[in-house]
Amino acid sequence: MMQSSQSYQQFASAPRFRSMQQDDIAAVCTIEREAFTTPWSEDAFRNELTHNQYAHYIVLEYDGLIVGYGGLWLIIDEAHITNVAVKSEYRGRGWGEKLMQRLKETAVFLGARRMTLEVRVSNTRAKQLYEKLGFYGVGIRKEYYTDNREDALIMWANLTSDSNRGDSA
Ligand SMILES: CC(C)(COP(=O)(O)OP(=O)(O)OC[C@H]1O[C@@H](n2cnc3c(N)ncnc32)[C@H](O)[C@@H]1OP(=O)(O)O)[C@@H](O)C(=O)NCCC(=O)NCCS
Repeated sequence: MMQSSQSYQQFASAPRFRSMQQDDIAAVCTIEREAFTTPWSEDAFRNELTHNQYAHYIVLEYDGLIVGYGGLWLIIDEAHITNVAVKSEYRGRGWGEKLMQRLKETAVFLGARRMTLEVRVSNTRAKQLYEKLGFYGVGIRKEYYTDNREDALIMWANLTSDSNRGDSA
């Protein structure tokens, strides 16, 4: 758990993960709106937390603030990432990577063998993060994003081999 705390050491206290609660939704949506052009609504998150038995959401908390979050749906032995974001002023500290690692660990814990996600083809930052964590592109969903008809790159990662490498957050 402590292996990769290097990037934490320059900060007063360590950021920590916990399950997303309904009380977190307003703060999560603030990040969601700054991160995505077609953000999920508060109701969408509430529905995920209260009615979707396949959904698992975590938040990253630092100094009492929610600075990131992510979620997945577990469908049999596949984990589908729904969203992941870090509040803009906290990006570039390795915390997005920690979030993704935590989601991968959660997926493995829940019995997933593979993980998938979609990412805008223009989102170089996220694509590099995913590739670093063992995701590889398998195809394109044409005009997947309704706001600008941008294509989505579909990525998968195996969770059962050495490709599930990296730090354990
Ligand atoms: C994608 C996102 C979660 C990354 O979070 P982050 O905390 O900034 O990322 P990290 O600091 O953990 O960086 C991890 C890796 O991501 C990639 N990365 C991060 N910032 C990058 C940048 N500006 N340019 C290119 N790659 C970048 C790198 O591979 C980096 O590893 P490295 O530092 O060893 O090079 C964050 O940028 C974000 O919230 N973006 C808006 C929402 C979004 O696009 N979500 C993904 C939707 S599919």
